[in-house]
Amino acid sequence: MTERTSIHGQWSNRIMFILAATGSAVGLGNIWKFPYITGENGGGAFVMVYLGCIAIVGVPIMMAEIMIGRRGRQSPINTMRSLARDEKTGSAWVLLGWGGVLAGFFILSYYSVIAGWALSYVFRSAVGVFNGVTADGAHSIFSGLVSDPERLLAWHTLFMVMCMVVVARGVRHGLEKAVRILMPALFVLLLVLLGYAYNTGAFQQGLDFLFTPDYTKVFYNCDFLNGVENCTFDGGPMLIAMGHAFFTLSLGMGAIMVYGSYMPKHNSITGAAMMIALLDTAVALIAGMAIFPVVFANGLEPGSGPGLIFQTLPIAFGAMQGGQIFGTIFFVLLVFAAWTSGISLIEPAVAWLVENKSMTRVRAAIWVGMSVWLLGLGSVFSFNVWSGEEFQLFGNTFFDLLDYLTANIMLPLGGLLIAVFAGWYVSRNSSVDEFNMGDGFIYKIWRLVIRYITPVAVVIVFLNAIGVIDWLLSKNLLW
Ligand code: PHE
Repeated sequence: MTERTSIHGQWSNRIMFILAATGSAVGLGNIWKFPYITGENGGGAFVMVYLGCIAIVGVPIMMAEIMIGRRGRQSPINTMRSLARDEKTGSAWVLLGWGGVLAGFFILSYYSVIAGWALSYVFRSAVGVFNGVTADGAHSIFSGLVSDPERLLAWHTLFMVMCMVVVARGVRHGLEKAVRILMPALFVLLLVLLGYAYNTGAFQQGLDFLFTPDYTKVFYNCDFLNGVENCTFDGGPMLIAMGHAFFTLSLGMGAIMVYGSYMPKHNSITGAAMMIALLDTAVALIAGMAIFPVVFANGLEPGSGPGLIFQTLPIAFGAMQGGQIFGTIFFVLLVFAAWTSGISLIEPAVAWLVENKSMTRVRAAIWVGMSVWLLGLGSVFSFNVWSGEEFQLFGNTFFDLLDYLTANIMLPLGGLLIAVFAGWYVSRNSSVDEFNMGDGFIYKIWRLVIRYITPVAVVIVFLNAIGVIDWLLSKNLLW
């Protein structure tokens, strides 16, 4: 096969791919979502399942996505079409590309609303609203923001425009420059926060919550009926942990695939995937270690939901020396982290429009951005005018449903199919050639894991969540 080249250009070098993919991976998922879902799902045991999923599901699938992307050198939709043709298999694989585009639209629509919260906190912090703020004060500042649809709409709009501008400019300009400085700066600021958390007096309690697993508490729901404890197994948190592994590594929807399609030929895919996963996990764990001590020191509720960091970090910044400046810089960096993730969510759709509808990048970015913006209104209203029960489905708002559907169903399903495609449909010759590391030990391990372990793990977690495994066990059908 003659080697393909991408019409969209290439990263300048190996480091740029790693930085861009890390920019995609590190985002609100690490700093906003990881702490709050860990809080809602009881801590340690949840974190252990999440870490396990990063290692045995996340890293192999990331390698597969980069490998497929670089071989196809096009938008995920066209890449899947070309590779399916190369490997002489069914054209239905193209649906995997389409599913990814849809997931990207859905995710960015609510992601942008949350990024809007971070934007608004930049200004609040800068003018000193958080100085000396109490837990109650931080709570009412947050509620004041989310209950006002107009303000949320304005920030959501601003964030979407920011994403459209960078995507319109293409892979090299803008994006590469932004990630080079901002990602390391975010890391440093997280360490400052960690330093504050260390001195809250509740550091140990925070660590215990994060790292001491109590499996019985997380995976079983227990009631006391007539004084007798009655426990039922609940696989839900496990699915949430796995879903988050996909979300935080940007896997299962083509973001990493499309970035891989701009990767220069001879760069190591394995090294890049490990590096990205490591950095992403480090950021999430440090964020957790910085936030939970503040939660406990102030008697807050770890399970208080999506507002968690927006109600705890202001207390930390409000109390620390120089907090007004640190706080402002922190929220600026959080916005940047969200920005570098946001653009990767629509890059697959934009690349497809450029390839197939011969649009310019600018036009494509505008069309995609406007559609996502419109869908985002549903999430804007979820926190205020549509928060009432009459607008909910099974107690979930539009925002909750989109988040659940994408992170816990669409991404794991997309990832499962990517694993099956890479392991079973891409020939051994093709994948050996693309990985460029020979048919040695590492390749053999990857192939074994991606063919058997990863798909089976994903399927088990799914079956577990809908109660099938528990049912089989109770009927003694499993052993
Ligand atoms: N990984 C990003 C985060 O953690 C979110 C994301 C998901 C980006 C899927 C791209 C694709 O914030």
